[in-house]
Amino acid sequence: MASQDKKESSGSSPSQKTKSPPSRRMKRRDFLKIAALGGVVTAVTPYVPYGSFLSQGSGGGKVEKERVILADGTVASVNRFSVNSSQIIVYPRTGDPVKDAEPFKRFQLIRLPAPEGNANNASSFRAYSMICVHLWCLWTYRSDFSQMQCPCHGSIYRTSDGLAIEGPASKQTPPNNALPRLDLEVDDKGDIWVLPPNWSVEGNGIVGYGRKVK
Ligand code: FES
Repeated sequence: MASQDKKESSGSSPSQKTKSPPSRRMKRRDFLKIAALGGVVTAVTPYVPYGSFLSQGSGGGKVEKERVILADGTVASVNRFSVNSSQIIVYPRTGDPVKDAEPFKRFQLIRLPAPEGNANNASSFRAYSMICVHLWCLWTYRSDFSQMQCPCHGSIYRTSDGLAIEGPASKQTPPNNALPRLDLEVDDKGDIWVLPPNWSVEGNGIVGYGRKVK
């Protein structure tokens, strides 16, 4: 799969000497991505499996806000979450351990480094899909660099808005160059909630595909 980009740029027939116009190349890339999302491209370790992404992306019927639960079963709270740290969360949670283990439900809840992360409100936090929009590896948060880094081909995402700033994901056409994110809210007790998402590129993004950064 890593050679897809090369094929795109050099795979035209001998009779087609001229390079495709940008709009055409973009459509071809989009087709490949959509084909992958449709399961045409099979997943290979360490890339995450196709899973049930489609059930999350549409028709999930999730309309209520949901309290964020951490891996240890506790409620995520601004009062117990260190500045410049992250934890994996599941969204949307179903209560079914098999479904909730799907990579397409994995997000990282990040508390930004200081000074942005000092406020005890939702502005200090971000939650991004862990699926890299390049070829679906799981990225990790590096607190030493305050960056989200993908181990497969080196894409780096900006923590403030999830935009890819280095690596192959950064060279993809928007909205295929930014991570889907969740909107968050903090209540009076300091508990963190996820607001009902709009799974579209104009809204919260499409997991595995991207989001339009405004
Ligand atoms: Fe290629 Fe993330 S899967 S950089």
